[in-house]
Amino acid sequence: MSPKLPSHLFPWLILLTFASLCFFYSFLSLNTFSSSSSSSSSPTSYYNCNLFRGQWVLDPDRTPLYDQTCPFHRNAWNCLRNDRQNMSFINSWKWVPHNCHLPRIDPFRFLPLVRNRNIAFVGDSLNENFLVSFLCILRVADHGAKRWKKKGAWRGAYFPNFNVTVAYHRAVLLSKYQWQPKQSEAGIQDGSEGFYRVDVDVPADEWAKIAGFYDVLVFNTGHWWNNDKFPKEKPLVFYKAGQPIIPPLGVLDGLKVVLTHMITYIQKEFPGKTLKFWRLQSPRHFYGGDWNQNGSCLFNTPLEENELDLWFEPRNNGVNKEARRLNFVIEEALQRTDIQVLDLSHLSEFRADAHPAIWLGRKDAVAIWGQDCMHWCLPGVPDTWVDILSQLIHDGFGGTGKL
Ligand SMILES: *[C@@H]1O[C@H](CO)[C@@H](O)[C@H](O)[C@H]1NC(C)=O
Ligand SMILES: *[C@@H]1O[C@H](CO)[C@@H](O)[C@H](O)[C@H]1NC(C)=O
Ligand SMILES: *[C@@H]1O[C@H](CO)[C@@H](O)[C@H](O)[C@H]1NC(C)=O
Repeated sequence: MSPKLPSHLFPWLILLTFASLCFFYSFLSLNTFSSSSSSSSSPTSYYNCNLFRGQWVLDPDRTPLYDQTCPFHRNAWNCLRNDRQNMSFINSWKWVPHNCHLPRIDPFRFLPLVRNRNIAFVGDSLNENFLVSFLCILRVADHGAKRWKKKGAWRGAYFPNFNVTVAYHRAVLLSKYQWQPKQSEAGIQDGSEGFYRVDVDVPADEWAKIAGFYDVLVFNTGHWWNNDKFPKEKPLVFYKAGQPIIPPLGVLDGLKVVLTHMITYIQKEFPGKTLKFWRLQSPRHFYGGDWNQNGSCLFNTPLEENELDLWFEPRNNGVNKEARRLNFVIEEALQRTDIQVLDLSHLSEFRADAHPAIWLGRKDAVAIWGQDCMHWCLPGVPDTWVDILSQLIHDGFGGTGKL
């Protein structure tokens, strides 16, 4: 474009380009729709745009779709109620993918699109964080939303005006696992109190039998695969076909084996018309120490792109390196499946400013657990995850154009 163009014309040019793209696309899709397949593992949206790469842009007019009164909040993430400072500034950032526009979810259009359909998140509390954002957004378009907790779900909601259920099935390792107290005759002789038996080839009861009910599934695991959750005295011991795996696997190798089995199960158990997603790790932002070493995230603005490697690149051996390391293992395991990768890690890496930090709603919380630089304030970053997921669900169900 000519640098001489008057700058007031730019918005119009962009709009015009966008409008013609939309027109072209809807024309195209009329002709090709019948032959297009709904299951695609490409992380792109309707005009070949990668929603996962971009930048956060300040947009002072942006306001969240819900507030602290949403009945589905979890107290520790309800940063408005807990008076986290600067929340309106924190929520004025908009994720702008390179070369395209990420539409914001419109719950009044999304709920009719998924009428008579059900959506589940399966995994750890970062997927619960995702769920809460989704429920609070959808409730805007159906105030009759009711708590729902069936079929092994940890929590969820039913939207009566649209006959839609959205729920979270808690299964932090995805595989079945259970505590085995130490027995005097047999067992390990290393001073441990017992161990957690993980059956690598058995999905946890909480989600093993949900096939047939859900039309969209969003899996994750990763945040529990570490020595904080399972220290030496209470280690994970991996079993296959009912027998301990010999020689015993370390945590990362255990994760690899579990992923292989769970992904095989998902491919077999959930028919092709089920939209299947796997969301990658949510990055943590502990600064100056880990969660139990007074690590802190009292930031006012997102990180700059050139700071990200310093925080997250495993070679730099920082406190928050595990997300990228685990993503590498997970992406490898998902190759050649019909499970779409939701790479929400990169966009979230910027947002050191958006965790509950010390505003947890309980005076003693920080003294006991440290700051929370892992989960996200709501409203907040997970609302952008919802924008992306809802667009991909829309595309997956054969919708064309913008949601
Ligand atoms: C609600 O949706 C389910 C599918 O999830 C369907 O079986 C049922 O018939 C629907 N109910 C009504 C009243 O449409
Ligand atoms: C964390 O901070 C407290 C209070 O300032 C201090 O007593 C403690 O030693 C610190 N812990 C670590 C691991 O730095
Ligand atoms: C809020 O964010 C702005 C912008 O970075 C900063 O100048 C201000 O100090 C912040 N206020 C608080 C209370 O953190």
